[in-house]
Amino acid sequence: VTKMIIDADTGVDDALAILYALKSPRIELQGVTTVFGNTSVGQATENTLRLLELAGAQHVPVAAGAERALVREPGPFSEKVHGHNGVGDAELPPTSRSALDTFAPEWLVQQANEHEGELVIVAMGRLTNLALALDIDPDLPKKLKKVVVMGGNIRVPGNITPVAEANIWGDPEAADRVLTAGLPLTLVGLDVTLKTRVNDSHLHYLKRYGREENREIINFIDESLQHYFGFYREVNYFQNSAPLHDPLAVIAAVHPELLTYQTMNVRVECEGTHTTGMVVADLRAIPMYDSPIQVCVDVDAETAEGNFLSVFL
Ligand code: BDR
Ligand code: CA
Repeated sequence: VTKMIIDADTGVDDALAILYALKSPRIELQGVTTVFGNTSVGQATENTLRLLELAGAQHVPVAAGAERALVREPGPFSEKVHGHNGVGDAELPPTSRSALDTFAPEWLVQQANEHEGELVIVAMGRLTNLALALDIDPDLPKKLKKVVVMGGNIRVPGNITPVAEANIWGDPEAADRVLTAGLPLTLVGLDVTLKTRVNDSHLHYLKRYGREENREIINFIDESLQHYFGFYREVNYFQNSAPLHDPLAVIAAVHPELLTYQTMNVRVECEGTHTTGMVVADLRAIPMYDSPIQVCVDVDAETAEGNFLSVFL
């Protein structure tokens, strides 16, 4: 069983990833840290607490993190994609719980020390919290078992600019710091997440065969995905489906055999006029960058999609 912390900007797909982690028999969720991105850090924290309430997981601690990027102003929040409340305007139960008093980067460092060599962090928002954690403890790379990052794109276009993916673009300085820190890091980018999607028939299947105890969770998934599908339909990208960006990062952490990898030395563009936030992979025969990470280049999408659904059945 993998001890995992999820770092999320709790929007629609982050919520799906957190629910998957709570339901997977392979994962012991140690906590969730939050960051700005899809929505403000305050809203992401509130969404996370409410989501844990919905799932009856009130024992899972939540630590709130960065409200802005290391050096840049936060961009506008993506209400078109994630709704006004970040989770596709689906309703979540109120909760009386609040976040821990500890700032997320501090808490991440504490947890890494407490569970040295055992902890897997799955980061699915801007990488600000992890970058700050590396500043607090430069030995962090030696203490973590694995870091899986949902972000970036290598051989496919970006989603927020022609060449950049939202999580990397939203704090490129933090992303460059994290991707070059020598962490045992796997990058789950758009190359694989756009192929791994949840669709209408999956939702029907879930509603029909989902375990009774998961009824309310499935209703929430259905409601928030209607919004998410709507966005992709409106921009004429996908008709009745949406990518499982963040859930795939969690799946990659516990079912690594579903993806294929290539070691790449990467940097993040922080100064481009048109290319800020682009992950630049040094694919030359003799790379000059020295920051090797594992980049996912392909996925068994059908099995990954099935695995995602299976935890709710
Ligand atoms: C990533 O950006 C956010 O909108 C999603 O939650 C995901 O983490 C996809 O580019
Ligand atoms: Ca996210």
